[in-house]
Amino acid sequence: MAETPVKRAPGRGRFITFEGGEGSGKSTQIKTLADRLNAAKVRTVVTREPGGSPGAEIIRHLVLSGMGKLLGAEAETLLFAAARDDHVRSVIQPALSQGIWVLCDRFSDSTRAYQGSLGKVSPAVLNAMERVTIGDLKPDLTIILDVPVEVGMKRAAARRGGGAPDRFEAEDVRFHQELREAYLQIAASEPQRCVLIDATAEPGAIAANIWAALRDRFFAASTDNVASSA
Ligand code: TYD
Repeated sequence: MAETPVKRAPGRGRFITFEGGEGSGKSTQIKTLADRLNAAKVRTVVTREPGGSPGAEIIRHLVLSGMGKLLGAEAETLLFAAARDDHVRSVIQPALSQGIWVLCDRFSDSTRAYQGSLGKVSPAVLNAMERVTIGDLKPDLTIILDVPVEVGMKRAAARRGGGAPDRFEAEDVRFHQELREAYLQIAASEPQRCVLIDATAEPGAIAANIWAALRDRFFAASTDNVASSA
């Protein structure tokens, strides 16, 4: 199926999502990008899923505790959808319509990968939930950070120190391998929206690749001066 182009009203902010498996380094890169955009006077907010709004943060605790898993894959997906619904209506849409750029750590591709490919929730159910929660809202750009599973799992373990793994970190290597494949498929199926970035490189090099992806899409090709074209 052909990739549907993003419809964006004039003056609306850009919606950029970050995706990837455990330990792919999303939060570091989001922070670096937000700092760079803010320095260029592009008003930017950083948010995350599950969570990002008071209501959705309550649901985040529930799903990451493993409570959602006990309910079964479809009910767990409904919890993610409920969180997204609140987050989109109370944070993402209002920011975009004020011209603010939104950088979001995970969005609907996470549901496609984790609950769809891994949890075997059917595309029909996922489509129905997307219609309700996000409607026409599609990211203008999705950065998918790709790392081999062993690297990502090691980084995630180092990050949590002696702490217990959460609901998804606790899954086995095969789960994480399939997750990586799911993201590679998403990147291949929507090449205009998605950019796959090798996240094994050092953080500065990854940040440069991310910046290049934004420049190609959103800013005048010959300049790094983003303020004029934002
Ligand atoms: P988080 O601690 O934010 O993980 P990470 O640093 O890897 O982003 O936990 C979010 C977890 O929830 C993560 O393992 C992915 C999972 N998730 C889903 O399964 N479905 C979803 O729709 C979303 C948004 C997240």
